[in-house]
This record gives sequence, structure tokens and C-alpha cells, in this order.
Amino acid sequence: MPGLCVIGLQWGDEAKGKLVDWLAEGRDLIVRYQGGANAGHTVVVGEEVYKLHLIPSGIVNPGIMNLITAGVVIHPGTLLGEIDSLLERGVDIADRLQLSGRAHCVMPWHIVEDKIWNQVNSGDENIGTTLRGIGPCYRDKVGRSFAVRVSDLIQGGLEKQIHRITEYKIQSLAPFCENGEVDLDASQIFAEYRQYAERLRPFIADTTRLLLDAVDQDKSILFEGAQGSLLDVDFGTYPFVTSSNSSGVGVSSGTGVPGQWIGKTIGVAKSYSTRVGGGPFPTELHNDTGEHIRIKGNEFGTTTGRPRRCGWFDAVAVRYTSRLSGTDSICLTMLDVLSELKEIQVCVAYELDGQRIDYFPNNVDDLQRLTPVYETLPGWQTDITSARKLDDLPPNARSYAGRLSELCECPIEFISVGPDREQTIVLNPDESLLDSLVS
Ligand code: IMP
Repeated sequence: MPGLCVIGLQWGDEAKGKLVDWLAEGRDLIVRYQGGANAGHTVVVGEEVYKLHLIPSGIVNPGIMNLITAGVVIHPGTLLGEIDSLLERGVDIADRLQLSGRAHCVMPWHIVEDKIWNQVNSGDENIGTTLRGIGPCYRDKVGRSFAVRVSDLIQGGLEKQIHRITEYKIQSLAPFCENGEVDLDASQIFAEYRQYAERLRPFIADTTRLLLDAVDQDKSILFEGAQGSLLDVDFGTYPFVTSSNSSGVGVSSGTGVPGQWIGKTIGVAKSYSTRVGGGPFPTELHNDTGEHIRIKGNEFGTTTGRPRRCGWFDAVAVRYTSRLSGTDSICLTMLDVLSELKEIQVCVAYELDGQRIDYFPNNVDDLQRLTPVYETLPGWQTDITSARKLDDLPPNARSYAGRLSELCECPIEFISVGPDREQTIVLNPDESLLDSLVS
């Protein structure tokens, strides 16, 4: 059975966790394949709110196997903290979580490096990372000489490896630390990671083989993307991106499953735009409307608590990422957040050096310079949080969603009107939003 993917189409935080949780029912495996504890997924089930960073959102669905594959960078302490908190809340993890031995470990020096580079690159050049050591860990993975893989945790030689790398890191980081003192102690790090290793041992497996076998056995697989396509290290707003392939192109490289086994991709897009950290954001609002969206949408980072930058929906950007990720349909989230607005703007094109363009520029200088071209749509000013089917939505809300679908050249399959599982409208394939467009 071809796999299903859920990919964020903006700069992350599109509320993917809720859709993954919804789609997880009846699946055999849920797979997290890139990023690390920089991600934050919130899953609400009734009264229970689960905040996850590394473990796939499917863990709250009993009976499903959850995999963290080779493309992920894992901070073992964070992962164990999540495991413990799920166990405390009665979520059965036993035999339902497997961790790739090929995945890389975020080590204490990665966190030190992340902090240092964030301080060194200040002002407009600051990426504003989540400080979870993600970039430094991926850099060491590609560099190879100073990397620690999950499988290294349980093989002989870890102590020597940690001492060797710590020595090098202390030497190279000393010039950037106060009084040349780098807060890293190899013996302490080894003691800490040895403990992690013992606790993680039962979860470590060859997830590549497991997945390829699952494909052969026609199992139903859901791939859960983290972050969003505009943060993709190759195709996003580089260098203001994360360090992994967070668009649809990352599924194969992060899992080892050939692209031919990916049958359907659902792109998740918020009804407006947000971004955390630095970098270009053409439709950003620096006014009361932006503040209104931030408060109504509770737009504060799950991982860092930072206020998110808010702005109008950018249809040029989402059309680009939707094509890039090969999305078959879109899940439009947080539509209820816009309910009080009289008018809503959508970016339909950009103006760059006096020319109107309808594509997403591939370099950050152009992205910083362009101005958005907006279309204004009427708001609906009605509470829509209890809508459960398309007909429950006011005509202007349907028109808004329909226009986004038209501009992004992709059908909408789901509309989310609140955080709860039930607050989801599923569109039938024959239900065209475009019919409801106000001309
Ligand atoms: P890093 O992934 O911590 O290196 O951060 C790089 C950039 O990606 C920063 O702008 C972060 O704010 C952003 N970022 C990383 N993870 C997420 C996420 O899960 N949601 C939204 N932004 C993220």
C-alpha cells in the first residue's frame, strides 16, 4: 500500500500534529524522518493535550508502531523525557516505538555551538534557531569526523569517542567563550550518555529494514514531516532555514523508502502565515491585525515559547511549496482564527524591481526586497468553531478557502476550525469549494 505523507507548506507550526493524529487511525506505522527536538507537535485528545518534540504524533493512538528514522537528529535526554511523560500519563509505549541506529545524536557540544553561532551572527543575519543543537549536529553528520550515531551509544568505544570529540570541541570553541572556558566535561558527558544508552537500548533498531519489509508486506505507512517546506535546507528561504529537508523531498532520504512508495501527500497550510526566528517574510504584519492573529491563534512557539511573527496567507509561497512537495490535497488549518476580521488579504503575486512576478524567488535578497500584491476578501465575522461540514461554514469563509485552493492550484481536503479532533471538516471529493466562490 503506497505511503501517505503529511508535509507543512509554510514555515512550520501549521498544526500538522492534529492531522497526523486524525490520519493515524488504522495505520500500521507512523514515521518521523527529519529534524529533531526543534519541532513541537501538539495533539489534543478530549481533555488531554500532548506536546511532543521527537516522538511521532501517532503514539497517542493505541496499537500503532512509531518509528524515528535515520534522517532525524535525536537528543536522547529529550526523547527519554517524552517517553517518561507519556508513560506517566498511561500511554503504552512498549513495543510501539523504534529508533534508527543510523540517526544522529545531539550532543552537549552541539547545544554550546548553537548558542555561540546565534550570538556571533547578530541582527539581520541571525537565523534565530531554536538553540536545540540541530544545525551543529547535522553539520557534524555531514562532516563525519565528529559525529555520534544512535548505534554508537550501544557499541563499545563510546567513552573514547566522546573524549576525542570533546577535546577537539573544547579547542575549537575556546576562542568564542568567556575566558576561553568551554562548559564541556568529557567524563560527565560519557556518564550521562551511558545512562541514556541503557534506557534507549530496547528501542534501537534497523528502521530502514523494518520499513522496507513493511512496504513489501503492504502495510499502511504515514510519514510525518516536521517544520515546513519554506524551512527546507535546499529549497527554503536559505540561509534562514532549518538544517534538514523539511519539504516533501526529504521523505525518501530520511527514511530509506524509495519515492515510488509514496502514494499521497497532504500539505498542511495555516489560513494565514507565521514564522519564528529571522528571515524574509513578505506578508508579515507589523500592526494590530498581526497582533490580533497572534493572540487569537496563540502564536507562541511550542518549543521555545517565542512569539511568532504573523501575516497574511501567501499564495505564491504555498503554490511553490505545494508543487515542490507534490501535494495531492491541502489541509487548511486555523480558519477560525480569522473569524473576527472584517476583511482578509491574500498575497497573489509579488512586485520585484517594478515587475509583477508570480513565482517564489530562489534567493533571499530578492525575497527581502519584494513587496506583496494583495487581493482583499470579505471576512465572515461569525464563530465557526462548531462547523463540522462545509455547509456549516458561512459563505465568505467557504469563498476564502475556495480562493486559496484556486490560487495554490491544489484541492482542499480538510478544513480545521479548532484544536480538537472533532473540529475538522472533511470535504468529499465531489464537494468543490470553487462552486462557492463569490464572483
Ligand atoms: P533550528 O532548526 O533550530 O536550527 O532553527 C532554524 C530556523 O528554523 C529558525 O528560524 C527556527 O525558528 C525555525 N524552526 C525550527 N524548527 C521549527 C518548527 O518546528 N517550527 C517553526 N520554526 C522552526
